[in-house]
Amino acid sequence: MILAERQRQLDASLLAFHELWHPQPFREIRPHWCQQWPALADELLALSDEVVAHLNDDGADALALLARHLPEVAAIAPLSELPARQHVELNERGERWAWEIPGRKRQQIEAFAAAARNDGQPVIDWCGGKGHLGRLLANEWQAPVHTLEIDPLLCSAGEFLAQRASAQQHFVRADALNAADWPNAGQHAVALHACGDLHRRLITRGAAQGVTRFDVAPCCYYRGVEDFYQPLSEPRLRLTRDDTRLAVTETVTAAPRQTRQRDQAIAWKLGFDAYRRTVTGDAYRSFKPVTESWLRQSFADFLGNMNQREGLPAVGAASAGEFERLGWQRWRELMCLSIVRHAFRRPLEIWLALDLAVFLEQQGYSVDLGSFCERRLTPRNLLISAQLG
Ligand SMILES: C[S@@+](CC[C@H](N)C(=O)[O-])C[C@H]1O[C@@H](n2cnc3c(N)ncnc32)[C@H](O)[C@@H]1O
Repeated sequence: MILAERQRQLDASLLAFHELWHPQPFREIRPHWCQQWPALADELLALSDEVVAHLNDDGADALALLARHLPEVAAIAPLSELPARQHVELNERGERWAWEIPGRKRQQIEAFAAAARNDGQPVIDWCGGKGHLGRLLANEWQAPVHTLEIDPLLCSAGEFLAQRASAQQHFVRADALNAADWPNAGQHAVALHACGDLHRRLITRGAAQGVTRFDVAPCCYYRGVEDFYQPLSEPRLRLTRDDTRLAVTETVTAAPRQTRQRDQAIAWKLGFDAYRRTVTGDAYRSFKPVTESWLRQSFADFLGNMNQREGLPAVGAASAGEFERLGWQRWRELMCLSIVRHAFRRPLEIWLALDLAVFLEQQGYSVDLGSFCERRLTPRNLLISAQLG
């Protein structure tokens, strides 16, 4: 399916189900859709913990569950599936090139290099960190590479690594958002996980300058978004900053201890929210980020600190136990109801990538959108590959 048509259909489906994925169960104890589709809410709330964990992680299975209640949702699944980009075999590069690179990062870089194609153009590696990708591409493609990076320490570390690998790689220390001289006409722009406005800037400025090729794996779409996402093409859907954040909330790497800590943090915040509702009325009010060390105390101490900071009356130790219990109860309901929202994570991410891809098509590029690696290496595995003319 051509990208603009995929965008049109996905845009329409996401608009149609806005009410399902936009509300945040952290803020709304029972989002409005629970009244509209009570059988769906009942089924979710009755699931076992194991199934809840699985469905929060597996968007395709979550969409399939939703589609049993709302058959039109089924149309979203094929729109959210993208082909894997074909990989070329990389040249023999030995172990030394990857000295210092953590294992999973190295695999991402190698997969990106194997999925991208170059016809001899000079390369600009956008927000390249220590330039691991640029170094590999300089040797793989035998092309001069400029790695643009804002952090001087990363630039110096990268220069050292480039020299050691005899790579034709030069570092440009610059702010990608203000770099007037980069990228240039005729270059091949690559960007692995340049966040939000950094990848958007590369694409808009690069297209205006006449960059010949792009290979961009976007991430953190919400960075640089104020209240609403400003699309580059012309979809009908309007995303808030929180919506763009939803697109990238899943992780594939959390250790069990981190997961437990994350769950406890959510449950305690919900326990605090439950108490506050008893004082200030039954509506969610946002609060400043919680001081990390408070989450390592007892719940009663945590609640005491929060109440003091937020100007609420103190709670006795016995009642604190009750709000802790309520917090964990709401945490469980939140996990069940969030399955609905999480079913739309990948479709939203694809919508965001399609916005960039369709913009490039409108600027005269032929564009391919696919995945460059398996999700287990990184969930941010989309690659926009574009060629001028
Ligand atoms: C997620 S890292 C990706 C690094 C590298 N591409 C990789 O995949 O290993 C994002 C990089 O963007 C750099 N960065 C952040 N803001 C920047 C800016 N305004 N201009 C240039 N680089 C920036 C950071 O210092 C960081 O090295």
